[in-house]
Amino acid sequence: MKPFDVYPLYDLEIVRGQGSYVWDDQGQKYLDMYGGHAVISIGHTHPHYVERVTKQLNKIGFYSNSVRIAPQRELAEKLGRLSGKPDYQLFMCNSGAEANENAMKLASFVTGRKKIVAFKGSFHGRTSLAVAATDNPAIVAPVNRTDNVIFLPHGDEKALEETFAQQGNEIAGVIIEGIQGVGGIVVAPESFLKKIRSLCDACGALYIADAVQCGCGRSGKYYSHDWAGVNADIYTMAKGIGNGFPVAALSIAPHIAPKYGMLGTTFGGNHLACAAALAVAEVMLQDGLIEQAGQTGDYLMSELKKLPGIREVRGRGLMIGIELDTEDSAPLRKKLLFDHKIFVGSSSKKNVIRLLPALNITKAHCDAFLDAFKQLL
Ligand SMILES: Cc1ncc(COP(=O)(O)O)c(C=O)c1O
Repeated sequence: MKPFDVYPLYDLEIVRGQGSYVWDDQGQKYLDMYGGHAVISIGHTHPHYVERVTKQLNKIGFYSNSVRIAPQRELAEKLGRLSGKPDYQLFMCNSGAEANENAMKLASFVTGRKKIVAFKGSFHGRTSLAVAATDNPAIVAPVNRTDNVIFLPHGDEKALEETFAQQGNEIAGVIIEGIQGVGGIVVAPESFLKKIRSLCDACGALYIADAVQCGCGRSGKYYSHDWAGVNADIYTMAKGIGNGFPVAALSIAPHIAPKYGMLGTTFGGNHLACAAALAVAEVMLQDGLIEQAGQTGDYLMSELKKLPGIREVRGRGLMIGIELDTEDSAPLRKKLLFDHKIFVGSSSKKNVIRLLPALNITKAHCDAFLDAFKQLL
C-alpha cells in the first residue's frame, strides 16, 4: 500500500521541530512562518506540552465517553476563562470539518429548520454539510450537493437582510469565518458580524462562528469574531487548540440546551486530546500569548506595508495575507523555502501568501522573514 495522492508535495521531509523552527532529514533548519497550516500555536515541541502529553499517556491515553473524564471538565473551565465565555458549554471532536458539521447540525436540531447561510470565499471543511457550505464546487461531491445552503456575497448586508426577509423562518444558522483563511485572508467587517447577530436574534436562527483557523488567540483576541463585540451562539475550533494533536471543539452558548442523541463521538475529548489542549491553554494563559500575537502581528503588518511589490496586506494578529502585485505567489514561495529556508502558506487566491506562525514567534524571527522577503521582492 502507498499513501493516497491528495496534495502536490514539496520534495522535503520534516523530521524535527522546536519553537518556530523545523529541520528536514538532511539536518537543514527552516523558519516556520506557516505554523504547519495555522496549527502550531505555542511552538513545536513546547516543553510544557511535551511533558503534559507524555505524563497523560503514561497514565491513560483513552477511555470512552461513557464515563466522566476529568480533563474534559478542566479544559472546559480553562477554555471558558481564556476565551472570556465561562458560561458556554464544551463539546469536543477531532477536526475542523467535524466541528462545523456538528455546529450546523446542532443549529438545525435546536431550530427545527434546514437552511444554512454561508458566504462566498468561505472554507468550512470537507465533510458533507461542511463542504456543502464551502464555496468551492470542485471539492463538493455529487452526494454532498444540497439546496439547504444559501451562499451570499461576503460582507453584503443588504443581501443578508433580503434573504432573512424572504426566508428568515427557514434559516437554522449563519456560518462565517471571522477572517477567511483559505479564501485569502479576508477580515469579516465588524458591522457585518453585528448584522448577522441582530438578524439571527430577530428570526430565531443561530450565529455560528467558524474559528477553526482564525480562533484560539491567533487574531489578538481569542476568537477573531470578538472584534465585532457581539457573541456567537456556537464557536468552532480546531487547528491551534491542540498544537498539532488532532483536537477540535464547539463552544456552545448557555441558552442551547443539550439533549441526548444530538451529538456524539468516540474519540472526541479523550484524555490525551484534553492533555494536549490543556497544555496549549495553560501556556497561552501563562505567557499572555493572545496579546503577544496581537502585538507581533501589528509589527509584521506595519513593516510589510512599507515594502514594494505588494498590493495589500490584510489580517489581524498573526493571521496575515500578503497580496502580491504578481499573478501567482508560487515562485516567490518556492524561493523563500528553498533559497531562504522559510515556510509560508498559499491560499485559493493565487497571488496571496498566508502567514500563520506560532503565537510566540519573536520579533527577531519576523525580521529574518522580512529581510528575506525584501530581497525577493
Ligand atoms: C476556517 C476553516 N474551517 C474548517 C476547516 C477544516 O478543518 P479540518 O481540515 O481540520 O477538517 C479549515 C481548514 O483549513 C478552515 O480553515
